[in-house]
Amino acid sequence: ADQNQVVVPYSNVSMGHQAIPRDQLRSVRELGHGAFGRVFLAEARGITEGLKVTLVAVKTLQDGASKSDKADLMKELDLMKKLPDNANVVRLLGFSVEKDPPYIIVEYLSRGDLKTLLHKHIGKVGRVYSNLHGGSTSLTAKDLMKFAKDVADGMAFISSQQCIHRDLAARNVLVAEDMTCKVSDFGLARDVMNIRVYEHRSQGRLPLRWMAIESLIHDVYTAESDVWSYGVLLWEIVTLGARPYPAMTTEMMVEKLQSGYRMPKPKNCQLELYDMMLACWQEDPGDRPSFAMISDELNKRMNVGK
Ligand code: ADE
Repeated sequence: ADQNQVVVPYSNVSMGHQAIPRDQLRSVRELGHGAFGRVFLAEARGITEGLKVTLVAVKTLQDGASKSDKADLMKELDLMKKLPDNANVVRLLGFSVEKDPPYIIVEYLSRGDLKTLLHKHIGKVGRVYSNLHGGSTSLTAKDLMKFAKDVADGMAFISSQQCIHRDLAARNVLVAEDMTCKVSDFGLARDVMNIRVYEHRSQGRLPLRWMAIESLIHDVYTAESDVWSYGVLLWEIVTLGARPYPAMTTEMMVEKLQSGYRMPKPKNCQLELYDMMLACWQEDPGDRPSFAMISDELNKRMNVGK
């Protein structure tokens, strides 16, 4: 293949690919970066129909990235290629990997990550009347429930595709212009058909505060350990993006979790929602609800008092 091609999978019609030149991407600005990867906003010509310009997010490597960082990015791409489109999962638009650094091109979600968005609304929740001014600067309890429901739906889909995310957290959920939440960042995700369930993971860069007790102790990752992480994400939503286990070191956290400790009910958190968190944090993975059950439950809750 031409080194300058961006390969675009035909959107949910077939698994075929359409190639467009890399130089049809014009970088606009950086959206974020970590130690090994970075994401920039770009204008892409011809990635959808015709010559239309589309804003896209391009995920690539930092300059000093290692071979294993590159391998991780390629694994992320492979997994995204296998996942059919879903309204609550960030959509793959294309990729360009014939040339270094590799690019993964995904849909651009204008409101950025959920954690930052929640943070911006501290002190503003529940001020419904400010919407009279036409702004969308306030979040209602209903908005928060909808975030929780969107993520549960995305995860129900991901688990139905035999996929484990392993890094579910508010920072890895992106928010669209219309406030729809979509699960993102499959950097640590694995297709369960291709791994042993007991796969071990190298230390470092582990999302310890989101990890299930069996992941922390035995390095085990399953759909049920994703459910535990979802419980922590629910806690993040309710606290508007607070850091889990505040004032605890990770060592303390692991020790206390083993003795049965769980985070207390946040202020202003409905008891039913806290019960859901506690269900996600059951010690026995088999006692936790599935994402489909969580989604149903949230649906019922959202329709109460409508
Ligand atoms: N940050 C990281 N990925 C992003 C995306 N797809 N859209 C918006 N911001 C992002």
